[in-house]
Amino acid sequence: MRILYKNADILCREGSGYRVLKNGYLGTDGPVISYLSDVKPERETYYRTVDLTGKLIMPGLFNCHTHAPMVLLRGVGSDLPLQEWLFDKVMPIEDKLFEAEMKTGTELALMEMIAGGTVSFSDMYFFPHVTAEAVAAAGLKANLNRPVQAFDPQEKGSDNRRVREAVDFYNQYHGYADGRVLIDFCVHAEYTCNEAVTSYLADIVRKEQGNLHIHLSETEREHEACKEKYGKTPAQWFADLGAFDVDAFAAHCVTVEPSDIRLLREKNVSVVHNPTSNMKLGSGFAPIQKMIDAGLNVALGTDGAASNNNLNLFEEMHLAAITHNGFEKDPTIMKPETVLDMATVNGAKVQRRTGCGSIKCGNRADFIVLDMHKPHLTPCLDVPALLVYSAQASDVWMTVCDGRELYRNGEYLTIDAERVYHDVREVTKKLY
Ligand code: NI
Repeated sequence: MRILYKNADILCREGSGYRVLKNGYLGTDGPVISYLSDVKPERETYYRTVDLTGKLIMPGLFNCHTHAPMVLLRGVGSDLPLQEWLFDKVMPIEDKLFEAEMKTGTELALMEMIAGGTVSFSDMYFFPHVTAEAVAAAGLKANLNRPVQAFDPQEKGSDNRRVREAVDFYNQYHGYADGRVLIDFCVHAEYTCNEAVTSYLADIVRKEQGNLHIHLSETEREHEACKEKYGKTPAQWFADLGAFDVDAFAAHCVTVEPSDIRLLREKNVSVVHNPTSNMKLGSGFAPIQKMIDAGLNVALGTDGAASNNNLNLFEEMHLAAITHNGFEKDPTIMKPETVLDMATVNGAKVQRRTGCGSIKCGNRADFIVLDMHKPHLTPCLDVPALLVYSAQASDVWMTVCDGRELYRNGEYLTIDAERVYHDVREVTKKLY
């Protein structure tokens, strides 16, 4: 089906920067962008035309590190240090989550992401097949995995149930829903997995040419405990176990050292920056500018809603843009264009999705439409700056993924929102 979106300003990536196509036309043909110009197409062969006067089309956002169903734990154990928050508050509730709860939590997360302009996310959570089915039905994209942990220091990789489940999940769901669902592999973190299991899984990822999602050096405590236990940093630990001899991406990287940054660059590991979570949990400030200067691919994530407490990438863009300037006392560090790249093309690269992350003919039709008829978006003099410093997730008017409209003017087109709100009320009664 061919649809023409007309009269919108369109944010296109050009060279290493951005350009705005004024009063543009964007045509879709099924899941791809087939026309892009400020000139009206000659032949009107479109099934439908959508007038977007006063609106802006920009690429859809990529949330490259989250734990989607954790929206059910929104606000739980706030204001505690990470270890206490995770082990004493979060995990006892997670023990009560089964498939039905996971479905409800995922659907609520998908609603929040779709309404806030997210078209794709990289998740790390259990019961991932439930997430895969919900994503397939809702119409967005996701890179999912079955996280591997091994607390018993003696456990072998071949004995680890989660490794077997991770491989089964990969075989069953990789490329599911017309390729919208991709399956990665995951070692939860150095402090939750032993060496034998990590190295065993790394071998599997190498054999499958897979993509590995990890948590890395999120806190000082975790980083120093690893050095004490193994005599090396978590990054060096993963590298020595072969976990960086594959495509890999690491969330947080708050306490990485200069030698770690060199190692991540050498091994081509992408980094996912989660500014809200790092500040909320008091973890600190990731040396993002140093990583960008070193040539690392840096994307953005919200982390789970229990440590954020939302899945709002406009907020992450805003914080990524201002925090480092403030911390380094230098207003020139983070450019709006750099931050937009982090939320879009760099995220698509983390997810190994070609033809995604920017608006261009032939690319996937993943885009969002912002209503610019708002006081805080007026006047519109510098679009990248406006999007990063002034725009809100609630300015998203439409979300389109693979050419399918998922959300329009406050209405969910693929999810029964009232049914999800009802289910969330029921689950919440059961959990708390
Ligand atoms: Ni996380």
